[in-house]
Amino acid sequence: MANTLLFVCLSLTITSAFSFLPFAAHAISSCNGACRTLNDCAGQLICINGKCNDDPDVGTHLCSGGGGQPIPSNGACQSSGNLMCGDQSHKQYKCSPPVTPSTRARLTLNDFSRGGDGGGASECDGQYHNNSSPIVALSTGWYNHGSRCGKIIRITANNGRSVNAKVVDECDSVNGCDKEHANQPPCRNNIVDGSSAVWDALGLNKDLGIVYVTWSMA
Ligand SMILES: *[C@@H]1O[C@H](CO)[C@@H](O)[C@H](O)[C@H]1NC(C)=O
Repeated sequence: MANTLLFVCLSLTITSAFSFLPFAAHAISSCNGACRTLNDCAGQLICINGKCNDDPDVGTHLCSGGGGQPIPSNGACQSSGNLMCGDQSHKQYKCSPPVTPSTRARLTLNDFSRGGDGGGASECDGQYHNNSSPIVALSTGWYNHGSRCGKIIRITANNGRSVNAKVVDECDSVNGCDKEHANQPPCRNNIVDGSSAVWDALGLNKDLGIVYVTWSMA
């Protein structure tokens, strides 16, 4: 009996190893669209050497095999328009990727205190917050009209460390380029914008400015 089970397990392992190989080979595709900055590329894509690419760390698979346009997968979040900041065009998003038990995101650093670079007071409560608390702002789609205000999310870094943080604010993915948003362009749609306490708890170097993490509802 034990031998049979072992055999079945081995067969399954070998079968799945082979069936994953072709997938892995195509996992990182290139959109080839010309770009100069991060913001020139659609939602989940990043600019590498002048071309819009799937984000290798976030592992998006939105690109076609070189046609230059991302393929909208079922339910994928599409840009709702463009916002000009000076002569720079920025994509706007009312939606974010679906929330899963391990939602991929970009962690950025925010100053939630009065006079900080976060711009105005927090969207949830109209208050400023102490950066020594583990708190976050979420992209507009994830903020979901405030439904996650006061909720606790669990953020996990690539180094295996995790932290629970409270949602207090929106990282506005639609509006920007004005005083209320500290003259910053709209957020991308996959941002967890954390206080310094979040970065510290995860043991991350704040000088990096942006790191890939996963999060879920705690
Ligand atoms: C923020 O919280 C820390 C720890 O609780 C405290 O020492 C500090 O004085 C607070 N800062 C402000 C500006 O309230």
